[in-house]
This record gives sequence, structure tokens and C-alpha cells, in this order.
Amino acid sequence: MNYSDASIGASTIAPFLSLEDVRKTYPGVVALDGFSLEVRPGEVIGLVGENGAGKSTLMKILGGVTTPDTGTITVDGVAHDGLTVEASIGSGIAFVHQELNLFENLDVAANIFFG
Ligand SMILES: Nc1ncnc2c1ncn2[C@@H]1O[C@H](COP(=O)(O)OP(=O)(O)OP(=O)(O)O)[C@@H](O)[C@H]1O
Ligand SMILES: [Mg+2]
Repeated sequence: MNYSDASIGASTIAPFLSLEDVRKTYPGVVALDGFSLEVRPGEVIGLVGENGAGKSTLMKILGGVTTPDTGTITVDGVAHDGLTVEASIGSGIAFVHQELNLFENLDVAANIFFG
């Protein structure tokens, strides 16, 4: 699926986060193809797509859990081929995983803020 139309419209405010032409494949599956997105201060963006559309893959790339095959992620003006979890957190990106891998001995707040 090609997501190039996902880019937010032109604005005079510089984006603090942008993804350009990001591609991610798994064996036999193209999860993201040509994904581009810009996020500006104050924007709240909903990501909508059918099952398997690549939403979690995108979030994992932003969270540094997954590295894109190609493409560029720019955070606060610094361009990256991919983020590590440490770099993502250090950039101020927080990510609550879809998959329910919970620490049952910790409460909800501790699970959300773990790491
Ligand atoms: N670790 C993986 N190994 C192989 N294929 C994967 C892996 N993770 C995701 N995929 C495949 O990549 C595609 C995108 O999956 P992804 O989980 O990003 O979709 P999603 O939009 O989050 O779906 P859902 O709405 O079901 O959560 C799917 O075809 C999925 O099967
Ligand atoms: Mg998902």
C-alpha cells in the first residue's frame, strides 16, 4: 500500500517530526511503501487503516523497535535512517504498544511508563 498521500498539508510552522519515503518489508510482505508524514507542534493525528495496513509497523519504527529498509526519519531537524529505542525516547517519543505484553505484578501506570 502506498501512503504518500498521508502527508499533512503545507504549513508555515516547521515540523518537529517527519518521515520521508519510508519502506519496510517483512518476508513476503510489504508493510510500508513510500510512507511520508509531517507532524507539527500542537497537531493531534489519528492513524487509521485496516488490519495489516502497517499502523503498528509505523509506530514501531517511530519507537525505535523496528528499523525501516529505506527512508528518512527527521526529529527536531536531525535526520536518521532508523531510530533505536534509546534514541526515540531521548527524542521525546513515547509509545504505548498495541500488543498486550503486560507486567502483571505492576499497576496500569507503571506498565504505561515502564522504560
Ligand atoms: N514481525 C513481523 N514479521 C512478519 N510480518 C509482519 C511482522 N509484523 C508485521 N508483519 C506484517 O506486516 C503487515 C503490517 O502489519 P502491522 O502489524 O503493522 O499492521 P496494523 O495496521 O498494525 O494491523 P492491526 O490493525 O491488525 O493492528 C501485515 O501484513 C503483517 O502481517
Ligand atoms: Mg497494529
